[in-house]
Amino acid sequence: RLRHKVTVIGSGNWGTTVAKLVAENTAGHPDLFEEDVQMWVYEEKVTIAPDSKHYDPAVGDSPQNLTAVINKYHENVKYLPGIALPRNVVANPSLVDAVKDSSVLIFNLPHEFIGNICRQIKDHILPYARGISCIKGVTVSEDNIELICEYISETLGIYCGALSGANIASEIANEQWCETTIAYNTPAGDLHNSSSSSNGKTASNGDGLIEFTDSRGRVSKTKLTPMPATYPTLDHDELHKLFARPYFTVSMVSDVVGVSLGGALKNIVALACGFVEGHGWNMTAKTAVMRRGMLEMIAFAREFYPETIQEKTFWEESAGWGDMIVSCTSARNWRYSKMAVERGVTVEEIEKTELNGQKLQGISTTREVASFLKAKGVQDKYPLFMLVEGILDANVDVEDIPALIRK
Ligand code: NAD
Ligand code: 13P
Repeated sequence: RLRHKVTVIGSGNWGTTVAKLVAENTAGHPDLFEEDVQMWVYEEKVTIAPDSKHYDPAVGDSPQNLTAVINKYHENVKYLPGIALPRNVVANPSLVDAVKDSSVLIFNLPHEFIGNICRQIKDHILPYARGISCIKGVTVSEDNIELICEYISETLGIYCGALSGANIASEIANEQWCETTIAYNTPAGDLHNSSSSSNGKTASNGDGLIEFTDSRGRVSKTKLTPMPATYPTLDHDELHKLFARPYFTVSMVSDVVGVSLGGALKNIVALACGFVEGHGWNMTAKTAVMRRGMLEMIAFAREFYPETIQEKTFWEESAGWGDMIVSCTSARNWRYSKMAVERGVTVEEIEKTELNGQKLQGISTTREVASFLKAKGVQDKYPLFMLVEGILDANVDVEDIPALIRK
């Protein structure tokens, strides 16, 4: 009997953390998963400092491939330094080789790179592979907006769910407890040998392919190849076994819209909180921003996903209020937008000089969402989202926030 081979596409701060926790679980469930987890690494050169325990005098300060360093020392010295990775995390610089024969693809990289990644792997993945997107962002083209998991589904012709929550990678890598939410609607054709129930709204259309309902409640243009019965079923129970750890509590739901939009849009609000705090205001001002930000997030979901919105995801799940709170009080988008205001420079400059290659998803998400709202002519309904774009472009002063959002 086959077992699921798992690949994590991406190896940044969160990508490496998820590879770690998933590899701990594949080792613990040999009936379901192959033990080794492939982790695709965007190859780059790193230099090991002389005071590092990994410093090799024979190599000195010559630049080395990050992939080779990860596989030698079982540590991602650039994006997750100080954390020991299980030996069954295998760093791979070849994207095509990393996804070969994998039935579970975990997408975990900054959202701006997903288009290029999908183009490269399109003809190299199993037709029945299934995906989970841990990416926080959206894809915008002119007046259309797509959830990242749905963009992956449509581009690759596979089903893809979404994982999002109040998750600071470095804390989880240190095995400090937190919660997350996974939205997944198991395609009906995958449930050949399962006693568990599917949340999927899917049906076979007679040619062996499966139709499924998209995030707007319509039959998707994408037809799915069912998972062969030679594999263990991949449903909520199995995904829970793949992701949950004693320090990582997983809530399985069906709402891909709430989980995806919660993760993407809170980054805009986190920037606003950083601006407010950098300006010298404190928790009461930030609370006002968070409250209004949540209302705009829900209004956005209502306006653009009216058939499928499940408001309770925003109120009850880690991917909703949970992520909002942590993102506006201790995550990177908040921290570095605060620093930008304190130093009187742009957030882009701070990203370049302070983040050592890590990315702030809020910058591009703000611009993408603002351009989408303008294309739809509804920007006036989202004053907080729009003023964040104004501050990024230096057209709006932080001082003006209360007047701009007052109603
Ligand atoms: P990161 O910001 O730490 O690192 C950036 C990554 O992008 C690096 O792995 C780098 O190699 C890669 N990269 C650079 N140029 C590239 C290119 N041209 N093509 C492909 N990859 C390239 O990344 P991260 O924190 O792992 O973020 C991944 C996703 O996870 C984001 O959507 C983020 O919002 C989300 N997320 C992050 C955290 C966190 O605490 N870090 C928590 C939850 C969710
Ligand atoms: P940052 O990318 O701002 O660090 O956010 C991490 C996160 O998503 C917290 O849940």
